[in-house]
Amino acid sequence: MTSVLLTGCGSLVTNNASHGDGSRLGLVADGALVIDGDRVGWLGSRRDAPPADAVVDLGGRAVVPGFVDAHSHLVFAGDRAEEFAARMAGEPYTAGGIASTVTATRAASDEELAATVARLVAEMTRQGTTTVEVKSGYGLTVIDEARSLAIAGRVTPETTYLGAHVVPAEYADDVAGYVDLVTGPMLDACAPYARWVDVFCEQGAFDADAARTVLSAGMRAGLQARIHANQLGHGPGVQLACELGAAAADHCTYLHDADVDALAQSGVVATLLPGVEFSTRSPYPDAQRLLAAGVTVALATDCNPGSCYTSSMPLCIALAVREMGMSPAQALWAATAGGAAALRRDDVGHLGVGARADLVVLDAPSYLHLAYRPGVPLAHAVWRAGHQVA
Ligand code: NIG
Ligand code: FE
Repeated sequence: MTSVLLTGCGSLVTNNASHGDGSRLGLVADGALVIDGDRVGWLGSRRDAPPADAVVDLGGRAVVPGFVDAHSHLVFAGDRAEEFAARMAGEPYTAGGIASTVTATRAASDEELAATVARLVAEMTRQGTTTVEVKSGYGLTVIDEARSLAIAGRVTPETTYLGAHVVPAEYADDVAGYVDLVTGPMLDACAPYARWVDVFCEQGAFDADAARTVLSAGMRAGLQARIHANQLGHGPGVQLACELGAAAADHCTYLHDADVDALAQSGVVATLLPGVEFSTRSPYPDAQRLLAAGVTVALATDCNPGSCYTSSMPLCIALAVREMGMSPAQALWAATAGGAAALRRDDVGHLGVGARADLVVLDAPSYLHLAYRPGVPLAHAVWRAGHQVA
């Protein structure tokens, strides 16, 4: 097993309060880190660094854990740039736009879909994302959902069955029939390729009863639950997530106090997706309200062709700081350790001895620059499982 010593880290974020300055980010000044195979073998102050097979001097650059993007929809064809332009001219975002992506996705070959997934994952990697969750949800037939998940599974183990994204046109008059399909033959075909089950619980998509039926069936099939909740209005999704013990409730744009309390009590992670509010010109959720209540908050891109076509976790960090009231430290934690919590992973999202060696070297002296320099490509190098991947 070869080892690599990364030294000369101007500042090193570990997300472990027992390291460095004792803050939640566990910030080590003038640090160093040893990668042993695919894991972190050692970390600490530069002057204490042990020898290694190879040494890389980072020249004072900052190191942060690789970003964990716990919400994306990368398996699709076509784009909806015209819909975006219409929104910017005043049209509201609705769930209805999903149908056009469904048509394009059904018509695409496996190779075309896989190429899009690979292109977007490469885009994410270049920006520092080292773990990504990918959903189906633009196929909405047994065959198209199953192949979407098989394709997603080529790039990540964090695959999510979202057959209940919207009711497809051919079932417009038979919602119950579509729920039967999603919880029956489609689930049977998809479960082998999925770790998670998700549902879009919203006006224009699935109500609380249908969403409960879908998530419960998925859980009986061995999948773990996550949910699209409270994106377009004060819906029942967050309460349902807490009732079922889902890993995460995602969006959380419109919350009553009771929703915030339920998230805090249940430990369900609130995954905020500020790129969606940016790209749909919607009001942002108040992250401080959640944090003050003790809710675990994650940040993710929601990369998809409709509500938010960004692959950039640094952009989401900058938006969370500027528009949602998060401090730069809170936003970075949410984009790394928070994402790991949303995926129930303890091997990623932090840099402790034994963690997977997933990290981003920033072309900056401090993680603060992620929010301070929005839109600037700051990822100087990206390491994933001990290999430099960008
Ligand atoms: O997370 N909310 C539902 N699904 C996606 C949007 C999908 C689309 O518009 O194509 C979301 O925002
Ligand atoms: Fe989504």
